[in-house]
Formats: sequence, C-alpha cells, structure tokens
Amino acid sequence: MGPEAMRFSRRAQEITPFLAMEFGKQAALIEARGHHVVQLNLGEPDFGAPPAVLAALERLSRGTRLPYTSALGLAELREAIAGFYRHAHGVEVDAGRIVVTAGASAALLLVTAALVDPGDHVLVGDPSYPCNRRFLSGFGAQVELIPTDAASRFQLDLAAVQRHWREDTRGLLVATPSNPTGTSVPPEELAAICRWAHEHDAWRIVDEIYLNLADGHAPTVLAGDPGAIVVNSFSKYFGMTGWRLGWCVLPPQMVPVMERLAQNYYICPSTIAQHAALACFQPGSLAVCEQRRAEFQARRALVLEGLAGLPLDVPVAPDGAFYVYFDVTRTGLDAMQFCRRLLDEAHVALTPGHDFGVAGAQRYVRLSCAASREELSEGLRRLSAFISRLP
Ligand SMILES: Cc1ncc(COP(=O)(O)O)c(C=O)c1O
Repeated sequence: MGPEAMRFSRRAQEITPFLAMEFGKQAALIEARGHHVVQLNLGEPDFGAPPAVLAALERLSRGTRLPYTSALGLAELREAIAGFYRHAHGVEVDAGRIVVTAGASAALLLVTAALVDPGDHVLVGDPSYPCNRRFLSGFGAQVELIPTDAASRFQLDLAAVQRHWREDTRGLLVATPSNPTGTSVPPEELAAICRWAHEHDAWRIVDEIYLNLADGHAPTVLAGDPGAIVVNSFSKYFGMTGWRLGWCVLPPQMVPVMERLAQNYYICPSTIAQHAALACFQPGSLAVCEQRRAEFQARRALVLEGLAGLPLDVPVAPDGAFYVYFDVTRTGLDAMQFCRRLLDEAHVALTPGHDFGVAGAQRYVRLSCAASREELSEGLRRLSAFISRLP
C-alpha cells in the first residue's frame, strides 16, 4: 500500500527550495561516490568557533544541567552583546532590547510573525537572501521585489524605495552587506531610507549578519536609526553556523511581543550554545575573529584575481560579505545551466542567481569565498578548465 495522500498548506506548497542548500545536497551525493567536490555554494566559514568557545563547550558538557533559559535569552549574553555594540560600534544599546534567537533565521521568523499581517505590502531588494522574503510571504505579506543593478551596487537606494512606495506599504527589509553580492548600502543612504520609512510609520528590518565582516568598520544602522529592527548572528563573524545562535535588537515595545512568540514557537534558543557563546566576547576571541576577517578579505582578493582572467564579469566588487556575484553571459550558458554543468562535470558547487531574485537572476552566479585558500584555488582551477572546454 502506498503512502497516505496528504494535503499540505498553501504556504508549504508555495515555498520553493533554497537552491544553495539543494546544490549542497547534490554535492554530497557526488562526494558519496568518492569524488571531492569544491563546495563554494554556502556561506559557511571553515574555521569553526573561536577556541575559547570550544573550551567553554567542553566544560559545559561535563555534567552541567542545561535547563531552558528565558525565551529572550540568557541575561548575561544579552549584556555581552550590548557590550559588543559599545566596543565594536560605539553605540549604547540597552540589553533589555536585545533578544537572543536560534540563528538570525529564527530572529527573522519571529520578527516577521510579530509585524506582518496577510496582505501587507513590503519592499525588498532584488537580488537578496531568499529566505528573508519567504519569511515575509509565509506570513501573508505581499512582497514587492525592487530590481537593483550595478549602478546602486545591487542594493536599495532612497530613490528606488520612493518610486515603489505605496500608501499601504508597511515596511521594508534590507540586508547590508548583502548576500549574494557582498555589497553594502552606504550608511547615509541607509539612514535616509530608514528615515523615509519612519516618517511613513513603517517598520524597517535591517539584516546586519555580515556587518562585522565589512571593510573598514562599518557602522550599525542603530547609530542613525535607534528605531530600526536589527538582526545579527553568531554564524558568520563568529564562525558558528551550526550552533544556531543569533540575536535581534528591537524597539522596547516589541520585546514582550517577541517574548510571547519565542515562548510559544520554540521556548528558547539552545542553552548550551548560549553559555558557550559568552566566550565570543572575550578579547582573545574577538582578536581571533578580526584575524579571520582579514583572511576573508585575502580570500576574496584571491577569487577576484582568479575570475579576472576568465570570461566571467564581476559588475561590482564586494565590500563586505564573503560573496562574489558574477555574470556568466559570455560563457553562452544561463546561470542554472552553468551551475548544474559545473557541478556535474567539474565538481564545483556554486549557487545560481535564481536563488536570489528575478532581475538578472539567469545571468548571475554566486561564489562563496568562505572556504580555505587551497579550496578556492582548486575551485578556480576547475572553473577555468570547465570554461575552456565549452564551445
Ligand atoms: C543575509 C542573511 N540573513 C540571514 C541568514 C541566516 O543566518 P543564520 O545562520 O544566523 O540563521 C543568512 C545565512 O546565510 C544570510 O545570508
């Protein structure tokens, strides 16, 4: 007898796969057949957590009771994150406005649940991180993707926001630096966009998950707009993707709402991860993370140099996140064909632009520079050989 027929929600039927992870699944199948795949499809630093965090984990694993924490997160961790804003960004943030979450993903899920009603009109740039718009549409938002191009460094600017603004626009979501392009919105432009939204009684969610990897020391949006809703994570700068830990900074009146949502939706973020993450803010760990930031910049330079010799055009150099977004038009393939064939024939996993939007999606491919220099060099070698075999 076959499996019972099930009817799934419209939400479940409409959500499309996260292609970066789908390409990872294909890569794992090829590896299971005994081939090494250079995996540059996911934004996953290869360093792991800073050593002091791993040492804390080891201590915690020895007979420590690990009960649920407050749904808002451990008070000490919220204080430590407030200290990070003070030292890294020179901004005072009340720890009571910080909510620890199961990754930036859970922060985005809860924030969206707190703000979006079905039919709400919301603005998001295209290209952008796919899951963000799916949180919004999952709660019924009418998401309008605003096409961007190289002229605005593939980011929203005030003029574009104003052109697409409607009487019933409820909010906007920006990630800066961006995934997939690695580019940032200039701070003055971001402040102007936020001011516009604020003046129109709209919320603005700013995903700053790559902020601490930005060139120079980019300011948090909170420096210009204390009312912005900010999302951040331990995944990228602290190299803790699998630990599932992030945070958000909220307007004070939103904290009890988020607490109720977190209590009901998942009780609290991982207790052991929260205790261990306290060690992220020790000076030694921060020094390690800064060294890694410099290493990411060197890796990015290596990739840009490698791509420069190939018929792959990088319209805008990244200035923050460890991604490079390039145009494959000159190869005669579209992005999906390019990525599929590159994986099958050369065992390099990248992510097609189709993951990130509609505008120009079929021309662009994202490469994550978070892998080691050896892997990146091998990836570039295979990429070059693959292209030289094309007609
Ligand atoms: C822009 C952006 N936001 C959010 C996330 C989710 O990150 P987390 O691992 O903290 O859930 C990612 C992950 O790549 C991302 O690129």
